[in-house]
Amino acid sequence: MPAFAAYAPGKVILFGEHAVVYDRPAIAVPVTEVQARAMVRADLAAPAGRIWMEAPDTGLDDDLGNLPPEHPFAILLGAVGTALGLPRFPALRLHVTSSIPIAAGMGSGAAISVAAARALAAFVGRPLSDEQASQAAFEVEKAYHGTPSGIDNTVIAYGKPILFHRNQPFHILRPGKAFTLVIADTGLAVPTREVVGDLRRRWEESPIPYEQIFDAIASLVRQARTHIENGEVEALGILMNNNHHLLQQLGVSCPQLDRLVDAAREAGALGAKLCGAGRGGNMIALVTVDTAPSISETLKAAGAVRIITTTISAGEG
Ligand code: PMV
Repeated sequence: MPAFAAYAPGKVILFGEHAVVYDRPAIAVPVTEVQARAMVRADLAAPAGRIWMEAPDTGLDDDLGNLPPEHPFAILLGAVGTALGLPRFPALRLHVTSSIPIAAGMGSGAAISVAAARALAAFVGRPLSDEQASQAAFEVEKAYHGTPSGIDNTVIAYGKPILFHRNQPFHILRPGKAFTLVIADTGLAVPTREVVGDLRRRWEESPIPYEQIFDAIASLVRQARTHIENGEVEALGILMNNNHHLLQQLGVSCPQLDRLVDAAREAGALGAKLCGAGRGGNMIALVTVDTAPSISETLKAAGAVRIITTTISAGEG
């Protein structure tokens, strides 16, 4: 019996996290060095319609029928079924693994959803479009992140650098020149929902200063788009430093992130910032192919528990 496999990459947000939740633009890129992988096969011995879920990374090994309706996989199966106009799936086993760090700003949840949605759809012979896979993953994001912007599921489903704006069509970016990022993990896992929720409470109490910071971030994002498309890599580094400063003002950095950001800059990075929700998770440093190894070593010495180096190709998309 054939198995249907699908993959989805991780991602990092280059510019504009948090502000994107408040209707400002943001830029994200896929990170193909880490991936979620889903495999679906028919379960001929199972009773009709039984869906068996295996996610060894989280210890899940159960009948979907035993999981609560708000479980991410229950929501995902419902969303994929709706997208395909399929009232129920034939008996199957869904096996999911991922090398994307969890709760670290690299889109692990969205990538698992996209990979699983694609594998399920391929299994029933009705492959999903990137947009359908993105939408199915967004249903899960909504249940788990409170007020997600939709940037994670979009960049991961399309697998291309994007300029994203909530409730507007997104744009695929074609970098004028390749650039390399070192991604360093603080080892602190902080749920996105928590950081986004805390910021929302502060914004509700006193919106004006936060709105000003969001506007300043939006201006950086617009400049960054131009520099990416024109291949002006050094200018991007300066904007990353400025974006990190604004994220500090939003109160979403932490000493561990600041230490890694400072260490990367001192070691010669063109720029560095936290990425994703913050208060832990990952930071990114813009490096050259030549400086990547020494900056990676410096980041490890400064406490990074995992380093991923990725290059965003010119003209991608
Ligand atoms: O999933 P993370 O940690 O990369 O965070 C997503 C980015 C936020 O802007 C903080 C939230 C969102 O929904 O866009």
